[in-house]
Amino acid sequence: MPVTDRRKAIVTGAASGIGAATLLELARAGYDVAGLDLNRAGVDEVARRAAHHGARSRGFTVDVTDEAALVAAFGAACDWLGGLDALATSAGVADTTPFMDVTVQRFRDVYAVNVIGTFVCLREAALHMKPGGRICTVASVAGLRGGGLSGTAAYAASKGAVLALTKNAARALAERGISVNTVAPGATLTPMIEQAWKNEAHRRRVEGMAVQNRTAAPEEIAKSIAFLLSPDASIVTGATLVADGGLVMY
Ligand SMILES: NC(=O)c1ccc[n+]([C@@H]2O[C@H](COP(=O)([O-])OP(=O)(O)OC[C@H]3O[C@@H](n4cnc5c(N)ncnc54)[C@H](OP(=O)(O)O)[C@@H]3O)[C@@H](O)[C@H]2O)c1
Repeated sequence: MPVTDRRKAIVTGAASGIGAATLLELARAGYDVAGLDLNRAGVDEVARRAAHHGARSRGFTVDVTDEAALVAAFGAACDWLGGLDALATSAGVADTTPFMDVTVQRFRDVYAVNVIGTFVCLREAALHMKPGGRICTVASVAGLRGGGLSGTAAYAASKGAVLALTKNAARALAERGISVNTVAPGATLTPMIEQAWKNEAHRRRVEGMAVQNRTAAPEEIAKSIAFLLSPDASIVTGATLVADGGLVMY
């Protein structure tokens, strides 16, 4: 299928959860989309569903912790799309290891995906985007609160780093005309929390911390991301959109 004049977006972590919902939301909103994920079958299936919305769509299999592979996949996705207007970085891993049991290796593994994987995507997007390009990273309320839901030290610290990295990128990339924002979701019903949510008491306790007293659907987070990626958010950069049903209010 030839390159079109639709807006073009890359979504990482597109095989599952918030990334999958974002790929589909952007396809519905008129983008051509490329999904990057470790999970080949999953990302191909979500790309196939995105095509039902009239989008050119394709999955690319990559581990975001492998810099050379990520640079190559990112370039291949931009070539296939015929440019890049928007990037959402949703690839991420959780970690619920109790504080005293967190090893340095575990900390590094979580950072490799959540922080360094995000950084490489930001850097590569800046190389491929023209002025007007828009980026949305995915942090977490864990990065604002220091954890407290299911995630602990390595996860909370990695998401705090994503918040700072996003603001730094917004400063650094402004001169290229690129805007960078982040969404900080609260509990969102995806495979990442499915196991924890089997504990009904834990789920109710966490949900009760937010004024809406519920878990978000991934589609609700995807709509927040799509807004930050859209030209409607033209004045917004360096911002954190807290999408958590009123858990963190500041
Ligand atoms: N769900 C929540 O409550 C919640 C709350 C706040 C923030 N978040 C954040 O939202 C983002 C998306 O999470 P989610 O809930 O949608 O989780 P998810 O359903 O587990 O989706 C994450 C996706 O990222 C992929 N991935 C993991 N490591 C990767 C790597 N090294 N390279 C490429 N892809 C990789 C996963 O592939 P595999 O499945 O093959 O590993 C999966 O497809 C994460 O950054 C998460 O921290 C989630």
